[in-house]
Amino acid sequence: MHNDVEKILFSEDEIRNAVAALGKRIAADVSGNGTPLFIGILKGSFIFMADLVRETGINCEMDFMIAKSYGNSTVSSGTVNIVKDISADITGRDVIVVEDILDTARTLAAVKELLLSRSPASVKICTLLDKVTAKRVSDLKADYKCFDVGNEFVVGYGLDYAEKYRNLKYIGVLKREVYEK
Ligand code: XMP
Ligand code: MG
Repeated sequence: MHNDVEKILFSEDEIRNAVAALGKRIAADVSGNGTPLFIGILKGSFIFMADLVRETGINCEMDFMIAKSYGNSTVSSGTVNIVKDISADITGRDVIVVEDILDTARTLAAVKELLLSRSPASVKICTLLDKVTAKRVSDLKADYKCFDVGNEFVVGYGLDYAEKYRNLKYIGVLKREVYEK
């Protein structure tokens, strides 16, 4: 697995420190509208989510969603299919949506719109990585993030290439020959 990695962008230590700092920030920000609910967007967020909720050290609940977006980047949010919805009632609660990487933001824009229609106290977007140069299809911004990345395809710490490399402890870029194989 490690032989396929061209370079490491964020080491295990850097990730741990960033996630710990973010967890503390989120814990300080929650308003006390009932128990906050963290919603992880599967599959990419599962490792980040697991570490983040433990770093908050607060009483919270967790749920997960699977959302699939279709269409090209010229189509705005709306063509998103919620394959698995949450089971929790979010009325009047603080909701924190946890994502692996914000790219076009199509998926999250649709997820946020859906959640807002259910009358929560708040919906915050928390992403591990923010592709700052990406072409956004909505004006959605991350409320919380760990790192900015450029326009390269990254793997590890939950992020995959063809479903592999999610279990790398660091975040990196694959060698070109891996894609071209
Ligand atoms: P949006 O809706 O923001 O989609 O365009 C974000 C989703 O796209 C995937 N994605 C990546 N996955 N490395 C990955 O492993 C990447 O560099 C990357 N860029 C986008 C990912 O599923 C994310 O949730
Ligand atoms: Mg994802």
